[in-house]
Amino acid sequence: MSSKNKLRIAVLASGGGTNLQSIIDQCQQGTLDAEIDLVICNNPDAGALDRAKKAGIRTVCINHRDFSQRKDFDQAVVTTLQEAGVELIVLAGFMRIISSVFLAAFPQRIINIHPALLPSFPGLHVQQKAIDYGAKFSGCTVHFVDDGVDTGAIIAQAVVPIHNDDTEETLSSRILEQEHKIYPQVIQWFAENRIVSDGRQVTIKSAQQSGNTLTNPLAE
Ligand code: GAR
Repeated sequence: MSSKNKLRIAVLASGGGTNLQSIIDQCQQGTLDAEIDLVICNNPDAGALDRAKKAGIRTVCINHRDFSQRKDFDQAVVTTLQEAGVELIVLAGFMRIISSVFLAAFPQRIINIHPALLPSFPGLHVQQKAIDYGAKFSGCTVHFVDDGVDTGAIIAQAVVPIHNDDTEETLSSRILEQEHKIYPQVIQWFAENRIVSDGRQVTIKSAQQSGNTLTNPLAE
């Protein structure tokens, strides 16, 4: 695909930015037909800013603490995104709730990754919550963003087992490994125009369905 036809995306992040890095890497390797036009962070200390700068990507820091109202912060983000002319907004560890101002500006064009198998464990600290609950599997979910907390239509999920000796850190890193695979894959499906969305039902044209079933602990 020529650079002209690449999907133009913005990545919004608040933290370390390993998901951002996986998207940068795949864009650079040519396995993802997208270009990151800008990275927006709400946190001036976000590692994601350094990763973007290192890759020569334009960065904008819009500190939510500079705004007394959520909608004013969101409007500043929306204006920046509209000026950049991006086609898809990729939330990658962006720890702010999106208001209606933001959603209305980009209908069906904002996606998020969440480190649990939604609809189980929405919200924060979900790896620890899955362990505490005694769940045997967790994973990650890529979904459209709607006006709820982690309630938007699901695009793709990956499953990982929870081990008896898992800590929040070990489970998070097992889940992150899968996040780094499925998020670039979903963006590529957008780039290929293969995502068909009908309310909560999201399908990917010509994608193979998983034939695997999983049991944990393993059946003997
Ligand atoms: C990821 O695990 C992502 O799923 C999660 O934050 C982490 C960001 O890591 N997002 C959420 O919890 C959103 N509610 P990263 O900065 O290394 O990409």
